Amino acid sequence: MRISVIGCGYLGAVHAASMAKLGHEVIGIDVDERKISELQAGRAPFFEPGLPELLTEVQETGRLSFSTNMADAEGARVHFVCVGTPQRKGENAADLTYVDAAFNELFPYLNEGDIAVGKSTVPVGTAARLADLAADKAPGAVLAWNPEFLREGHAVKDTLTPDRFVYGIPAGPAGEAATAALDEVYATPLADGTPRLVVDYATAELVKTAANSFLATKISFINAMAEVCEATGADVTALADAIGMDERIGRKFLNAGVGFGGGCLPKDIRAFMARAGELGADQALTFLREVDAINMRRRTRVVELTRELCSGSLIGKRITVLGAAFKPESDDVRDSPALSVAAQLQLQGATVTVTDPEALANAKVRFPELAYEPETKTALARAHALVLLTEWKEYRELDPAAVGNLVDDKNILDGRNVLNPTAWRDAGWHYKGIGRQ
Ligand code: UDX
Repeated sequence: MRISVIGCGYLGAVHAASMAKLGHEVIGIDVDERKISELQAGRAPFFEPGLPELLTEVQETGRLSFSTNMADAEGARVHFVCVGTPQRKGENAADLTYVDAAFNELFPYLNEGDIAVGKSTVPVGTAARLADLAADKAPGAVLAWNPEFLREGHAVKDTLTPDRFVYGIPAGPAGEAATAALDEVYATPLADGTPRLVVDYATAELVKTAANSFLATKISFINAMAEVCEATGADVTALADAIGMDERIGRKFLNAGVGFGGGCLPKDIRAFMARAGELGADQALTFLREVDAINMRRRTRVVELTRELCSGSLIGKRITVLGAAFKPESDDVRDSPALSVAAQLQLQGATVTVTDPEALANAKVRFPELAYEPETKTALARAHALVLLTEWKEYRELDPAAVGNLVDDKNILDGRNVLNPTAWRDAGWHYKGIGRQ
C-alpha cells in the first residue's frame, strides 16, 4: 500500500521506516529540511536504537523516500499525521498549531477513499473537530485516530510489535472503510495476534491520555512512598519489589528516583487537566495536579540530598552529573529531570559538569550555561560528588574502586536507585539513594 507519514520526529521517522519494513511504499514528509536530508541519506536525525539499521535495510528496498513537499503525499491511500503537540507556552494546554497545520496542508491532496489518520497525542474532541473540517475541505476522505504508544529507546520494537492497536473511527461505512485500510496497513502484526480495538474518536484519544496519566501516577505513587520511606527509615526499593509481586499491581514503573520527564508524560498530564477543565470535568483530574507536584518535588529533594552529601554547602563544590537525557537509550532532553537538577545545582553555587553518552548536543542547546564532558573518566576526575540521574548501562556498571581513584571526595547520590549500596559503601563511598537508607 502507498502510505504517507507527515512529521518525521521521534514518532514519524520510526513509523515511516517501520511501515516500509512491513512491505508498504512510504513517503515521509517534514518541513525541517535538515531532518529530511539526513533521512534521505539513510541517517537517523536523532538517537534511537535500531533505527539506523532499519533505515539502511528499508532504503535498499526502494520503498522509503522523504520530502519537504506536502504535494508528494498525493497518491498515497493512508496518510499518518505524526507531528508534535507540545505544551503551550505559559499554559497547561496542548499546542495544536502543528496538528492543525499538518491536516490543513494535507486536505487539498486527499482523494476519494483516502484515509487521514492522526497519531499525535491530542486533547479529546480534536478528531471530531478535524473530521468536520475534512468533510468540508476533503470530502470523500475519511478521518481516523490511531494513537501511538511507543516508548523512546524501544520505538522500533514498539512500532513493529505493539501491545495493541486502537482505531478511533466514525460510525457507518466510512468507519468500516477506515478499519479495513488500517487492517491492511497492520496486516503482519495483526496476523501475529496483536489485539486491535475499534472505538469512537473520543475513546481513542482518551486511551492515550489515560494510559500516560496512569503511568505518571504509578511513578509518582512510588515517589510518594519514597518520601514516606525517607521519613521512617524504610527502603522503597524493597517496598516496590514486595508490592510489585501482587499481579494486580505489577513491578514495572515502580522505580523511585528523580521522577519522570520527557516529551510526553509531563505535558500530557497537564494538557489532560486543561482539557478536563474546559469540559467541566476538572474535579475528576485534580489528582493529576498532585502527581505533577510529587514529581517536581523529587527534583528539589535531589538537590537537597546533594547538598547534604557535600557537608551542607554546594558553594564551590565540583559536582559531576551522570546523565542528561530524560531516560537511558535516548538523546531526548525535553523536560529532563537530570538537566533540571544540574541547572539548580549550578545556580546554587556548585561547579557542575554533565556527561551523557548521547544527549550532550541537545543538552547544550537547552542549558548552554552548564559544562559538558563526553568522556566519563574525564567528567569524573576531581569531583567532590557524583549524582547519577539517568541510568545508562555504563553508569550502572561503574566500578566503585576504579571511580574512587578519580574523584577528590567519595560522595555519590544514586538518583535512580540502580547501584548496589553495599558495594559502593564497602569501597569507601558515602552513598545516598532515594527513599532508602
Ligand atoms: C511514554 C509512554 O511510556 C509511552 O507509552 C508513550 O507513547 C509516550 O510516553 P517515554 O516518554 O518514551 O514513553 O518514556 P517512559 O519509558 O514512559 O519513561 C518516562 C519517564 O518516566 C522517564 O523520565 C523515566 O525515567 C521515568 N520513569 C519510568 C521513572 O521515573 N520510574 C519508572 O519506574 C519508570
